[in-house]
Amino acid sequence: MSWIEEKAKAELERIREAQAKQVYPYFKPFETGGLHTSIDGKPIVNFSSNDYLGLTTHPKVIEAAKKAVERYACGLSSSRVQATTVEHIALEERLAAYFGFEACLVFTTGYQAMVGTIMSFADRDTTLALDNLSHACILDGTFMAAGTPLRQPEVRFFNHNSARSLNRVLTNRERKNAMVLIEGIYSLDGDEAPIQEIVEVCESHENTVLVVDDAHGSGTLGKHGRGILEKTGLEGRVPIVVSTFSKTFGGIGGILLGSRDVIDHVKHAARSFVFSASLPVPIVAAASTILSMLEDDAEGLVAELHEKAAYMRRSLLELGLDLGMSTTHIMPVMCRDEAKAMFMHIALLENGVMMVPITYPGVKKGEERLRLNVTRGHTREDMDKALDLLETYGRAFEIPGLESAR
Ligand SMILES: Cc1ncc(COP(=O)(O)O)c(C=O)c1O
Repeated sequence: MSWIEEKAKAELERIREAQAKQVYPYFKPFETGGLHTSIDGKPIVNFSSNDYLGLTTHPKVIEAAKKAVERYACGLSSSRVQATTVEHIALEERLAAYFGFEACLVFTTGYQAMVGTIMSFADRDTTLALDNLSHACILDGTFMAAGTPLRQPEVRFFNHNSARSLNRVLTNRERKNAMVLIEGIYSLDGDEAPIQEIVEVCESHENTVLVVDDAHGSGTLGKHGRGILEKTGLEGRVPIVVSTFSKTFGGIGGILLGSRDVIDHVKHAARSFVFSASLPVPIVAAASTILSMLEDDAEGLVAELHEKAAYMRRSLLELGLDLGMSTTHIMPVMCRDEAKAMFMHIALLENGVMMVPITYPGVKKGEERLRLNVTRGHTREDMDKALDLLETYGRAFEIPGLESAR
């Protein structure tokens, strides 16, 4: 057996064990798109989706994508450098205007947008300051820069959502320039960054630039869905925002927002942009259609999401469930035990409700949870069904808040 076979076998031990016991919860194949789908022919309501405004399967979005397929097919067979269309440019201009930035660059994924942005700026003169619960795209961009000859920025972590801890890191940093990387909403915990304080700390240090990954805040926060900066009145005070089409915008793709010079530099420097194929136009057309819907009635769409999220939050808390640090439509149901999270997931799925378990190493041991995202596309019936099941099985498996008094 070759070493790669041996290594794969050894690394897979836990996974193979879960598969053998039929408790492996990931990669379940959906048979249709959308929040209401099926697995093995059984109807499922998906509560682990990031389709926050429920627009992925809107007929106008599907129609726009179909028309784009006819004109541009499914791919452009090269990177943006030599495969840009008028549709990409029009969407970039409209996104910049909507989010209130001078310019925008559309990447093929949000992950690539973040990695490319970090790699375009971080060098030996730079300290990268990261929240210690940062998303993989921030970590990977950072570690890639740290491991690249001639780049090698200093890397420092600060305590999650702590402006004081960030202040300490910026004060003690060893390099001239600093890039601070945070998220608008943290996707596993559903808590918002204390962005006002973080902006103030960044502004109080020289040569310090804040980058906000608002993947989960775009289209969900702020009256008009422009994200955490709109919600907190900080538009104009953060130089770079990164976001994605893979949540609210119904497809896949990365968004980078900044000044014209920052965008043009990343456009020429980011290897994740220059050396990866351009976003297919049907996807551009889908995102562009959702952007039109936001331009027409973001207030209505966002308000509907918030009403549903408020109903679900109230009901979950009335049941006594532990939602961890959540303050948003992302409401993890804390199980704080791997087996409980796994068994809850299986029991709910058997009954037509999908909430994916998040376990170690995705989260720390003792913080295992079910991923529960409320979206505008969920109905009152979907939510009531999920609540009934959480109550019944939560009591059976004695998850936090529903333990029986013995
Ligand atoms: C906070 C955050 N940033 C970036 C990404 C990556 O986005 P994409 O799916 O477009 O690669 C995600 C998606 O999981 C995310 O949650």
